[in-house]
Amino acid sequence: MAAPNNNDAASASASTSEGAPAAPEDTSIEALARRVQEHMTLANNPSARRHKFWETQPVGQFRDAADVSLPDGAIEPPTPLSEVRADPYPLPAAFEWFTCDLDDDALLADLYALLAHNYVEDDENMFRFNYSPAFLRWALRPPSFFRAWHIGVRATESKKLVAFISGVPARIRARDDVVRMAEINFLCVHKKLRSKRLAPVLIREVTRRVHQENIWQAAYTAGVVLPTPITTCRYWHRSLNPKKLIDVGFSRLGPRMTMSRTVRLYKLPDAPLTPGFRQMELRDVAPVTRLLRAYLARYVVAPDFDELDVEHWLLPQEDVVDSYLVESPETHEITDFCSFYTLPSSVLNNPNYSTLKAAYSYYNVAVKTPLQQLMNDALIVAKQKNYDVFNALDVMENEAFLKELKFGPGDGQLHYYLYNYRIRNGIKPSELGLVLL
Ligand SMILES: CC(C)(COP(=O)(O)OP(=O)(O)OC[C@H]1O[C@@H](n2cnc3c(N)ncnc32)[C@H](O)[C@@H]1OP(=O)(O)O)[C@@H](O)C(=O)NCCC(=O)NCCS
Repeated sequence: MAAPNNNDAASASASTSEGAPAAPEDTSIEALARRVQEHMTLANNPSARRHKFWETQPVGQFRDAADVSLPDGAIEPPTPLSEVRADPYPLPAAFEWFTCDLDDDALLADLYALLAHNYVEDDENMFRFNYSPAFLRWALRPPSFFRAWHIGVRATESKKLVAFISGVPARIRARDDVVRMAEINFLCVHKKLRSKRLAPVLIREVTRRVHQENIWQAAYTAGVVLPTPITTCRYWHRSLNPKKLIDVGFSRLGPRMTMSRTVRLYKLPDAPLTPGFRQMELRDVAPVTRLLRAYLARYVVAPDFDELDVEHWLLPQEDVVDSYLVESPETHEITDFCSFYTLPSSVLNNPNYSTLKAAYSYYNVAVKTPLQQLMNDALIVAKQKNYDVFNALDVMENEAFLKELKFGPGDGQLHYYLYNYRIRNGIKPSELGLVLL
């Protein structure tokens, strides 16, 4: 199965040095043998690769992985705000910084188009994430967001948007430490401008703007291995519309399986089975916040949500985020909660289909209802709403239902990172309570 969550574009640029002229090619047998050896080492062990940019940043470095004397927590102390660089980092000639106002529909359409054509693809370039404009507005404007963190790069002359990076503020707890962080997302450079070391400039610029708000840590995910993941997760996929998934090449017909047996295998009931299962409403924000806070306290790294966060991140919005809960028919108590967000992928080069409608498991809390039953109801409503596939990471307790509910492992990995925060030895996916969009 393929997942549009993996991207290996960085490997092509990993050997280009920042600004340094290339060394003349050495074609001797020994040099060739050395290069083959190096190539094999890198293929088997991505952490052996040099990272010209990331090696200069306050992140866990691969060489420190075995050093048990290093403490958990901030890698570098904050610098006085007066010492934070006041001017934007220089861009190559013909490009300029551009702070994006997402209230502006035309600008939002430009951002949507940049990402729809240039954002993350799977390894075989069959699918590309297609975040909707409404989703982007939701993802980029949580409570107390900073407009200055929606950073575009455009061509000075044509004003065409050619690159983007964003941050949103969040409180994230690591063990007992609740830390103000930026969640960095939607790093994208136009396909025609790749491998020119523009990404490090974008990352430095968003870091500078985050520092200006007196925030010194960040959380982010990537399909590529960088120094150093706090954990590495896998996506699992549950077919809801198996025929279409097979037709577009997302999944394959299993050995000794026919299409009609496959369709039967993934068939779901027409309506949720748990009594009291209903959509979350505004009046549920307080009890849902209580449920979530108590639940997320179990995890080593998790968001520290308050009611404003829950209202923003979990109140249903059509084709953006869906949340359901179980209200006890007897006591009217809210006992369980589940949610998913909507992230379609464009199907590239298929004559019959242009889009896959995918639901992504978000935050789920099962207290009275068994988790497997709760998630089965989530699958049922996703099927009712015409999603083709339901995806989930192996974070939190998800492993407890993935196999039983007929999810299959994908081939994409998602690495989680913290900037300027060390968690010695990392954590297991099941110790992670954070889902980034
Ligand atoms: C990710 C992307 C912006 C990188 O740009 P690029 O032109 O390929 O790479 P550049 O030459 O500008 O920069 C290379 C540096 O960026 C780093 N980099 C590449 N992808 C990265 C990522 N997703 N997150 C953080 N750093 C990344 C590389 O590791 C390298 O630094 P290093 O030498 O220290 O290892 C670009 O490939 C892209 O837009 N891809 C599609 C969208 C995507 O995958 N976005 C990231 C989602 S997590």
